[in-house]
Amino acid sequence: MSTNTDPAAVRPPRAGARTLAVTSGKGGVGKTFVTANLAAALAARGQKVLVLDADLGLANLDVVLFAISLAQDVLVVATPEPTSLTDAYATIKVLATQQERRHVGLLVNQANRVGEGKLICGQLQQVLQRFVGPAPGQGFKLELLGEVRADPAVRQAVLKRQLMLENYPGCDAAQAIKALATKLLG
Ligand SMILES: Nc1ncnc2c1ncn2[C@@H]1O[C@H](COP(=O)(O)OP(=O)(O)OP(=O)(O)O)[C@@H](O)[C@H]1O
Ligand SMILES: [Mg+2]
Repeated sequence: MSTNTDPAAVRPPRAGARTLAVTSGKGGVGKTFVTANLAAALAARGQKVLVLDADLGLANLDVVLFAISLAQDVLVVATPEPTSLTDAYATIKVLATQQERRHVGLLVNQANRVGEGKLICGQLQQVLQRFVGPAPGQGFKLELLGEVRADPAVRQAVLKRQLMLENYPGCDAAQAIKALATKLLG
């Protein structure tokens, strides 16, 4: 294992492979739920998927950020709760400023109503614009990649320690995760 924390010094992923970091500001917003079920949805579409839990439990933000810096794409998971949104905003700001990312994906989880994700994404994008600048070619884009409604099936699957996608393939949340997979595959 290399101790060099310069992202440029790390070998890039094999051609054809894509890396996506799933992160959030606040904990407990649904990263594990989204990642596990998204991996299953991608696998169902014939993709080879490797899931790596990079939460090393070191309570060191620089290490949790270094892991993200290695990924090609980032998906930030947030819920409509004010604390989650504040923390998501802080995370995205770091990704845009320190990591100089010009594109970050957003998944609004546990949405209370249809359209809440779009509203939240617009609000975050507006605030972020102040820090990263709206100049042409340099503008920052926060792209809404999905909206998953609060769905009792999620908790049921967690209690069974099984994938929601396999247990409740027709539920609203499962449909939203499948739509996210489709969007990611372009
Ligand atoms: N769309 C949803 N509808 C209903 N409940 C949900 C939904 N998404 C997540 N949950 C609930 O939130 C709980 C926390 O989700 P999860 O463990 O995936 O969060 P996490 O971000 O990985 O947490 P941590 O930061 O601790 O790793 C789940 O056990 C589940 O019960
Ligand atoms: Mg988790």
